[in-house]
Parts: sequence; C-alpha cells; structure tokens
Amino acid sequence: MYVCICNAITDKQIRQAAFRGATTVMDLTDELGVAACCGSCHESAAEILAEHAHRGHHFEPVVFNPALA
Ligand code: FES
Repeated sequence: MYVCICNAITDKQIRQAAFRGATTVMDLTDELGVAACCGSCHESAAEILAEHAHRGHHFEPVVFNPALA
C-alpha cells in the first residue's frame, strides 16, 4: 500500500527502513523521501514506525569486543 504518494513509497519500504534502523519520520525523509513534499503522509509513516517499535523490532548496536574475538 502506498503511504507516500508524492514519492511512491509503500508501507513495506517503510518497514524495511525501520528494520535497517530508521526510528523517526526524519530518518524516512533522509532515506526514502517520505514527507518531503506535501507532508500528508507524515502521520501514517509515524504510525508504521510506532507499530514497528511497539513490536520490539529494533536492533542494538553491535560493539566489537576484542576480548571476545
Ligand atoms: S504524500 Fe508523502 S510527501 Fe506527499
């Protein structure tokens, strides 16, 4: 389903960006152009991000520990 009509961005693309680490609509704007034109998709995009975060789909940064190498 298209979320951002102006840039032809789907909910699937937004979820994929969230899996890659996007946590804010600004992140989506930087990566995909979401909400960069008319802005009417901003709320829908934010809801998808919130849904993603609510489900606990986030990644902790991987820190290299030479003691474990
Ligand atoms: S619908 Fe996303 S910027 Fe217009």
